[in-house]
Amino acid sequence: MSPLAKIPNAHWSSAISPLWIMYVRYQDLETETLAEAHGRLGPVVRLGPSDVSIDDIEHVKTVYTSFNRTKWYSIFDNYGVACMFSAIPAKEHALRKRMVSHVYTKTFIQTSPAVASQARAILQDRLLPTLIGSTAADQEPHGIEVFSLFLATSMDFITAHVYGLEGGTNFLRKTEYRDHWLQIYLARFGALFLRQELPGLTWILTKCGITPYSHEVTRATNELADWNLTMFNKTGARLANHPDFQDNQLLIKSRDVMTRKEFRPDSDDSFTWGRPEDKPTVMLSLLSAMDREQVAHRADKALRVKVFRQPILTAQSELFDHIIAGQETTANTLAFLTWRLSVHQEVQDILRAELLSLQKSEDGSFDSFFPDAKTLDSLPVLNAVIMETLRLHAPFEGPQPRQTPDNGCHIGPYKLPGGVRIAALAYTLHRNTSVFPDPEIWDYTRWIDSDEEAKKARNRQFWAFGSGGRMCIGIHFAMHEIKAVIAMIYSRFRTHIADDSAMKPDADT
Ligand code: HEM
Repeated sequence: MSPLAKIPNAHWSSAISPLWIMYVRYQDLETETLAEAHGRLGPVVRLGPSDVSIDDIEHVKTVYTSFNRTKWYSIFDNYGVACMFSAIPAKEHALRKRMVSHVYTKTFIQTSPAVASQARAILQDRLLPTLIGSTAADQEPHGIEVFSLFLATSMDFITAHVYGLEGGTNFLRKTEYRDHWLQIYLARFGALFLRQELPGLTWILTKCGITPYSHEVTRATNELADWNLTMFNKTGARLANHPDFQDNQLLIKSRDVMTRKEFRPDSDDSFTWGRPEDKPTVMLSLLSAMDREQVAHRADKALRVKVFRQPILTAQSELFDHIIAGQETTANTLAFLTWRLSVHQEVQDILRAELLSLQKSEDGSFDSFFPDAKTLDSLPVLNAVIMETLRLHAPFEGPQPRQTPDNGCHIGPYKLPGGVRIAALAYTLHRNTSVFPDPEIWDYTRWIDSDEEAKKARNRQFWAFGSGGRMCIGIHFAMHEIKAVIAMIYSRFRTHIADDSAMKPDADT
C-alpha cells in the first residue's frame, strides 16, 4: 500500500514513514510518483512526517513568494562557500543577487554589444561550420549527436558572458576536451542523492574519515573546480592590467595567484576589450559590486561573515554556479526542441517562413542573416515552440523544496507546522488539464491563440523557470540563446531524425 496520504488536518503528528519517499527519491521515481499521487489525492499531498507536495498555482504563490530554501540546495555550494543559488537567508540572497542581476535583465541582454557579438561569433564561426559539416553526403555516421552539440553551444555562450569569448570555453571546436568534460560532469551525479537528501549523515561520515562516494566522484569534482579556477584566474590576470581595475580590492588580494605564469595574459597589452565579445561581463559586474557592497555593509556583521569573509572564493563560487546552471538546462531545451521540430516537419515549415520573412540582407543570402535579439523576441511562432517545449520538457521538472516558516502556515484548508519541507513541481503544473487540454500533446499553437483569459492562465501556470524571489536569474539569457540558436539553424537547414532512441528525459535534470 502506498503511504501517500491526503493531509489529515487534525492528525499532523501521525507517523508516515519517511523511508518510503527516500526510496522513491533514490530510485529517481519522484516525479512520476508525485504526478500519480496528485491525480489520485488532490493538490496537497503529505509524503512523510514533515514532507508535503503541492499542485495548485495559488499554493505555489503562497510558498514561493516568501518561504526559504532548505539545506537541500547546499550541494550547489562551490569551493565550500555558498552562492546565490544555495544561499538560504533572504537578506544574504538579496545581496548576492543584487551584485549580478543587472547583467541578466532583458534590457541588458537585448542591448549589450558584448552579448550580441558573442552570440554571432559562436553561431557563425563555430556552430554553423559544424552543422554544414554534418550535411556532407559522404558523412558517416549520418547525422549529428545534438545533446553533446548543444551542451557545447550552451557552455560557449554562458562562459563567454561570464569570462568573455577569449576567456571562456570553445567546446564547439574542442570536441575531445568537451567529451572528457561531459564524462567527469556526469560522474558526479551518483553522489548528489546522499549529499542532498541526507546531508547530516554525509557530514558525519566525512568527519569520521569515510568518503561516502567514490574517489572518481572526488576527482571529478576537483577537476571541475580547477577548470573554473583557471578561467577565473586567467580573466582576473587580464583584468588586473586594466586601468579601471587597479583599485579593485579583490583583484589586489588575488594578484599573487593571478600573476603566476600559467595565468598571465599572452601579451602585455592591458585588457581594453578591443573586441566587444571579449568583455567578461558577469565577472566585471560581480567584482565591481563586491568592492562597493563590502564597503556599504561594513557594519552588518552577519553579512560580512557570510558573503565577504572569503571574497575570492565567493566570487569563484558564484561564477561557477552560473556556468553550471546555464549550460545543461539550455542544452536540454535545445535538444528537445530540435527533436520536436524534426518530428513535426509541418511546424518546421511554419517556423522557417516566419524567420525568412525577416530576411532583409541585400544579397538575400542566408549567411548574412543574424537578426538582433529584440527582433527575434518579437516572433510568435519561435516563442511558442520554445514555450511548448519547456512546458513538456522542463529541465527542472521535479520538486523545488522550500521550508514552512517557524510559526507554521495555512495551505488551502490545512494548517502546517513550521519546518516542513514543501514543494511544487513543474511536471504536474504543466499537465493541468484545465489550463493545458490534452497535456501530453506537443502543440505550439496553445501559446499563440488570442483568448486573453486563456493566455493569462497559461502564463500563470508556466513554471519552467520557477517563480517569486528565487526565480531563475538566467531566464532572459537562456531565452535569447535558444532563440538565436534555433533561428540560425531553421533559417538555413531542415532537420530530421537520424536516431531518437535516447530521447527520454533524465530524472536528474
Ligand atoms: C532553459 C534554461 C533554464 C531553466 C529552465 C532554468 C530553470 C531554473 C529554475 C526552475 C530555477 C529555480 C530553482 C529553484 O528554486 O529550486 C532557477 C534558478 C536559477 N537559475 Fe536557471 N534556468 C535556466 C537557465 C539559466 C541560465 C542560463 C542561468 C545563468 C546564469 C541560470 C542561473 C540560475 C540561478 C543563478 C538561479 C538561482 C536564482 C536564485 O536563487 O535567486 N539559469 N533556474
